[in-house]
Amino acid sequence: MQPRTRMNSDKRLLTVFGGSGFLGRYLLRHLARKGYMVRVVTRDVRAAGFVRVYGEVGQIAPVYGSLRDRRSIESNVQGAEAVINLIGILREPLLSRGAFQAVHHEGARRIAVCAAEAGVARLIHVSALGVHQVPSSRYARSKVQGEQAVREVFPTATLVRPGLVFGYEDRFFPLFASLARFTPVLPVFGTHALWGLSRRGTRLHPVYVGDVARAIVALLAMPSMKGQDIDIVGPQAYPFGALMAMIARATKRQRLLLPMPLWLARLLSYATNVLPGRLLTPDNVRLLAYDNVAEDSGALMRLGIRPQALEDHLPSLLQRFTKK
Ligand SMILES: NC(=O)c1ccc[n+]([C@@H]2O[C@H](COP(=O)([O-])OP(=O)(O)OC[C@H]3O[C@@H](n4cnc5c(N)ncnc54)[C@H](OP(=O)(O)O)[C@@H]3O)[C@@H](O)[C@H]2O)c1
Repeated sequence: MQPRTRMNSDKRLLTVFGGSGFLGRYLLRHLARKGYMVRVVTRDVRAAGFVRVYGEVGQIAPVYGSLRDRRSIESNVQGAEAVINLIGILREPLLSRGAFQAVHHEGARRIAVCAAEAGVARLIHVSALGVHQVPSSRYARSKVQGEQAVREVFPTATLVRPGLVFGYEDRFFPLFASLARFTPVLPVFGTHALWGLSRRGTRLHPVYVGDVARAIVALLAMPSMKGQDIDIVGPQAYPFGALMAMIARATKRQRLLLPMPLWLARLLSYATNVLPGRLLTPDNVRLLAYDNVAEDSGALMRLGIRPQALEDHLPSLLQRFTKK
């Protein structure tokens, strides 16, 4: 039996899957400001209870749902005018090699099928930038298959592909900022030279989490974006080495940038894959072999959002790691 959400019937109801996560928290605040009532589908209603505070009393309700439990999806999309799917994982649990498929492909399909059957008007499915160019990565393949499945069963879905998302709770910048606290070097992944003598590294195209959230809200109000794919990135792409240099500057530490060719990164990933925390998995390394950059970086501007620059946020985002 599903917990029922008491929703005010004259307000517009949305269902968000994965709303308790990093991007979800920002999205919920923006949706609440626009006056939407939101069901946040989560595997753990108690743990996700904090999402209530992003809206007025009763405006945001965490409700139980699991990708494995089709009935929970069916009941949670009923009556929603739009469904937003933010569910995603960057690493598979060590003993669960099918997790990417189960979450990004089969799970995404299941949500899209249930939304279509329930007559939901809009589906916004969040994928990731650049997944089409890395068939060797199981993460990327599952994301692509998820996109294709969503398109097949819900042709008017809007596919959103953010670049590397930064914000207070992201995992990328704090990871390297905390590494800088303990080691004299910062790695530059993705150097293609044989011995890794280049300090450039793979290029990434970061985007501020609040901008991605605002973009999703803007897309909801634009029926013309039905059936479209959109890459959401910030104003500038950076080589990995430049990002490491920015982290060192922002945290007021002088660190050597150590070129890390992919073969070495791969060796390291196998060696550390079994350690707690699993900083880098072999599948993550496959992603690092390719630049993750949007050809067209104007989508946010076209949605009426001026993209925020990484440089403006980094010092405050990393303040907790800054040398005193
Ligand atoms: N963060 C980035 O840099 C980035 C970049 C590009 C694309 N994206 C995409 O943007 C979306 C949101 O990313 P995010 O960083 O906000 O993700 P996140 O914080 O890691 O997780 C989002 C939510 O997914 C749900 N979830 C995780 N594993 C699940 C599973 N096995 N079954 C069902 N639900 C599961 C969790 O909700 P519950 O625990 O409440 O169930 C979690 O709160 C994802 O699709 C991600 O791939 C993110």
